[in-house]
Amino acid sequence: MCGIVAYLGDKHAYPILVEGLHRLEYRGYDSAGIVLLDDEIHLVKKKGKVRDLEDAAGGTPKRSTIGIGHTRWATHGEPNDVNAHPHLSGNGRLALVHNGIIENYAILKKALERLGHTFVSETDTEVFVHLIEEYQTRDGISIEEAVLQALNRVIGAYAIVVVDKEDPDKLVAARKQSPLVVGVGDDEFLVASDASPIVKYTNKVVYLNDHELAIITRDGNLNIRDIANNHVEPRVEEIDLKIEELEKEGYDFFMHKEIHQQPQTIMDCMRGRLNVQEGWIKLGGLEEYKKQILQANRMIIAGCGTSWHAGLIAEYLFEDLARLPVEVEYASELRYRNPVIREGDVVLAISQSGETADTLAALKHVKEKGATIYGIVNVVGSSIARITHAGSYIHAGPEIGVASTKAFTGQVTLLSLMALMIGYERGTIPLTRYEELISELGQIPEKVREVLAYEEQVKYIASEIKDTANALYLGRGYNFPVALEGALKLKEISYIHAEGYPAAEMKHGPIALIDENMPVIVIATNQSAYDKILSNVQEVKARKAKVIAITTKGDEQLKKYADYIVEIPETMEPFTPLLSVIPLQLLSYYIAVMRGCNVDQPRNLAKSVTVE
Ligand code: M6R
Repeated sequence: MCGIVAYLGDKHAYPILVEGLHRLEYRGYDSAGIVLLDDEIHLVKKKGKVRDLEDAAGGTPKRSTIGIGHTRWATHGEPNDVNAHPHLSGNGRLALVHNGIIENYAILKKALERLGHTFVSETDTEVFVHLIEEYQTRDGISIEEAVLQALNRVIGAYAIVVVDKEDPDKLVAARKQSPLVVGVGDDEFLVASDASPIVKYTNKVVYLNDHELAIITRDGNLNIRDIANNHVEPRVEEIDLKIEELEKEGYDFFMHKEIHQQPQTIMDCMRGRLNVQEGWIKLGGLEEYKKQILQANRMIIAGCGTSWHAGLIAEYLFEDLARLPVEVEYASELRYRNPVIREGDVVLAISQSGETADTLAALKHVKEKGATIYGIVNVVGSSIARITHAGSYIHAGPEIGVASTKAFTGQVTLLSLMALMIGYERGTIPLTRYEELISELGQIPEKVREVLAYEEQVKYIASEIKDTANALYLGRGYNFPVALEGALKLKEISYIHAEGYPAAEMKHGPIALIDENMPVIVIATNQSAYDKILSNVQEVKARKAKVIAITTKGDEQLKKYADYIVEIPETMEPFTPLLSVIPLQLLSYYIAVMRGCNVDQPRNLAKSVTVE
């Protein structure tokens, strides 16, 4: 939620900031702004995309070697030029960019107004910069000392970068619950919400931790302190992120590229972890805490959105293969409940970004209650990856389209590996079945490639139903969470109302919605409950709905009832979601494109939800 980028070095800051904002635009795209600093503060900010900011900045923006930039996803105050970041202090000396929410901003604002401050925007961020100004002018202290004092007053989440025109060779950055990375180059520093604006310049980074403040100066000094002003030794890490991974590479949209990357990303997720010939699965990141997982009495899985759907699939996998009881929780609910955590319970969080505020808070909540916590995360070095006792990365590479695709299949692949490993070691899977399963899992990337070859057919179906106002997705067993995921994909990028349902539940209500105008997408692969779902399809057809069926290759029965068919290759039931979700991703993608929607940046959404 919101992207921050800052630069201090010997290059012209403006193009670096603008390029960085383009890379971070997936985090928020309702307005953008930059401040360039010399003896003066040069501020440009604009409602709309980074493109609009560039137009507003004109062709020859100020040459300066220090600056800060921001792309916004509004929390306080509507998206407009005034509410856009950076925000300035009342005396015009300080400029600040912020990602997060200051919860006590109303009280602080009143207190500051009583002291004579006036505000021009409706944002919590402007209050933050005025508070820093208040300490700085009242006590005659440096910018970093004033920021430190302000951090001790604000309640909420923040990643900030501040500049001071009276101290123009310094960036001051701080974080709590919102990510911030410092890139350490030769004679230059970048600060950003993630590493994407940094990798072009350096692969050396320092991830700031919660309650840490970085003071960066032109003489090459990176000084980190905690909120109590103790020195913290910076831990420089090397990241492995290639610039091509951040480009569309010939595709019109990142989502399309990411859908097509899946044969490779699923393989990358299994690389070094699955050895079919020798019959082993190793998840290095879990080794240290493996005993707790193997002896667990219960697993609680927490996540949001698509990651929650992956968690629902894990429920089937862990129960089926490892005989491990599972409860799947919306992280946003778990964080405010008083869950019973017993000895022998493990909690697994699933998150692409590793920064989702609800998931992070739920994890902290159960950790305090004594749970051992694990993370399945994509973004390396993210907050969830760092607060969990153990975990595994899915290695899907940067996912930039707001709609999650390759992260979902990466999560399900990792969860399949985990369920198989636990099942094998707990002795709940007979050896021959285990061998068949791991051999089949090894075939999945190739089978995903086969499904992708049906793209034109899916595109045709998309053209047939693109004007619908509603859609219903039905599935059973392992395919029920896939139905939820298909519906979510359609909703978020094409703005069509869609519902996912367990197929048999349809007759308890949603069947009332079905008529000739309702497309019903049924995931009906030839596995358990196939006959039952066939009956559900007949019920739907009897009410004249348009039926789009995702079936297993060679299924002749469904052809009689379905209006459109997309076939997927035969696989073993636990891995069906990895194939059946692909046509649904393509379907929503093409419908959104045909409706003229901005696929990668759907309205009101942002890639990672770092606020409540
Ligand atoms: O980064 P996370 O996996 O924690 O994000 C969770 C959800 O916000 C995310 O899956 C969201 O639902 C996506 N837009 C779905 O496509």
